[in-house]
Amino acid sequence: MSLNIIIEGNLSTSDAKSLHEQLSTGTHSSIDFEFKGTEYLPYIIVIDLLNIETKLQIVTSQKSLYLYLSNLGIKNDYINEHKLQKTNYVQKVKAIAIGGSAGSIDGLIKIVKDLRYTNISIFVTLHILPDKDSLLSSILNSTTDYNVIEATDNIQIKEHTIYIAPPNKHMIIKDNYIFLNDEEHVNFSRPSISLMYDSLAKEYTNSLLCILLCGYGKDGSSSMDILDKNGCEILLQNPDECEAKDMIVNATQASKTAQVLNLSNIQSYLELKLAPIEYYENEIKEFLQKVYDTYGYDYRNYELKSIKRRIEFVRLQVNANSLNKFKQMVLKDKNIFKELQSAFSINITEFFRNTEVFKKIYEDILPDLSHLKYLRVWCAGCSRGDEPYTVAILLKKAGLLANAQIYATDFNETIINEAINGIYPTSLYDSFKDNYDKCASDDTFEQYFDFSEKYFEVKKEIKEKILFFKHNLTTDASINEFNIIFCRNVLIYLDNDLKDRVFNLMDESLMKDGYLVLGESEAIPKTLTYLRIGNKKMKIYKK
Ligand SMILES: C[S@@+](CC[C@H](N)C(=O)[O-])C[C@H]1O[C@@H](n2cnc3c(N)ncnc32)[C@H](O)[C@@H]1O
Repeated sequence: MSLNIIIEGNLSTSDAKSLHEQLSTGTHSSIDFEFKGTEYLPYIIVIDLLNIETKLQIVTSQKSLYLYLSNLGIKNDYINEHKLQKTNYVQKVKAIAIGGSAGSIDGLIKIVKDLRYTNISIFVTLHILPDKDSLLSSILNSTTDYNVIEATDNIQIKEHTIYIAPPNKHMIIKDNYIFLNDEEHVNFSRPSISLMYDSLAKEYTNSLLCILLCGYGKDGSSSMDILDKNGCEILLQNPDECEAKDMIVNATQASKTAQVLNLSNIQSYLELKLAPIEYYENEIKEFLQKVYDTYGYDYRNYELKSIKRRIEFVRLQVNANSLNKFKQMVLKDKNIFKELQSAFSINITEFFRNTEVFKKIYEDILPDLSHLKYLRVWCAGCSRGDEPYTVAILLKKAGLLANAQIYATDFNETIINEAINGIYPTSLYDSFKDNYDKCASDDTFEQYFDFSEKYFEVKKEIKEKILFFKHNLTTDASINEFNIIFCRNVLIYLDNDLKDRVFNLMDESLMKDGYLVLGESEAIPKTLTYLRIGNKKMKIYKK
């Protein structure tokens, strides 16, 4: 028997326990999980998912959970909830289909020549005589940056590419592949525009934009119903511009939604449709102010250029067709705000990142602090935990861990919860070990982990010495006084005012003779007269 489990939101400790019991006692042939709005999973459930022998089917709706599980090798399908609410948002175009007769080649060239270069795929079927070698792809190749190819059978669809149906073959698209066949003529045509349109309507639904140029007969026009039903956008060339009008006239009658435009208007329409939205600085600033007022997260002084790029990225993810629409969605829906928040924070990290820094800490800094009865360390902006675990391993090696407490904080709650689990996919082990060997090769890295077939996990005795919690460096107050503070690769995203605020916080939180460690491309301001330790690249400072 199969078991269906639907989880809404993040699991509480007690819910996780009962789920764990359910998973360990049942004898099911398969288990279907649906995680709705779940951003992270507690340790026991992750371990269950990694070890369960039963067939698993997992659907996630939050990007963070999708990535976390995928990185651990746990297969799951990500279904973006916002994309399902099609009625609210205009879909962006993912594919364009162009059909026409042989007389439409000039129109086709005009459209392709001025087409903005984006990541879409374009499919073209023109009625070209079967005995003619098609030169269409080489003609188009010389007019556009898109890669233009005459389609062959069973090829995977790529972005930035225009596919032309070859003479005398039907071109059909299914599951991201192109297939060609020699089957019967459809609407007296092979290749048939209708066969291409029908398959694309199913493949791309409302992310498809269809263009029908001049032509005889009813090929193409017989697909209008299926295109309409799938929410595809349809542009028909104005029949007044065509010598062969039948196809367009038939299509106009068959479609309830098609727009009839002159070729030049089709070009302008495409330009508008594929153009990225330009944001004015003031609009962005006003938006960030509203985000701050609504959620208390302060991105107002973040570097504008990278903020813009990230806003654009999430806007497209949730299919908001304007910044204004996107603003409303973010302010109304906390889940969309969270998507934006994870796009704003870059979480790249690794064990023993910049090995020479940790070598120096192990060889010179820890011995300097070894006389202290108690050692307090803060890793600020700790991401998924690699840095605090690295520090704990070094303290253990130096015999200082028993009398130490490590605070590890980040403003991203989801990443903190991933860090607490301390589970990593086996594929990362070798690179972590290489780093370790470069800075401390006198013993083995293995001793700090427990190993399983698919993953490795930080040992309990190391995990126990780290207190992970949420803390925002730009808005929250100091949490304690520390002997060492790591704040690496966090400040690079902040402007000078925010950096000043963070440095005040660090200064307030660092004990006399304590050490501050920054990222390779960061430096303390002149106002802090700390002593530099090690070489210029290390960014280790003593108060
Ligand atoms: C690039 S990672 C660096 C991780 C680790 N320190 C390292 O160097 O490997 C930057 C981390 O800083 C966090 N971060 C960014 N702004 C922050 C803020 N205002 N307060 C706390 N954490 C922040 C991000 O969420 C992210 O996890």
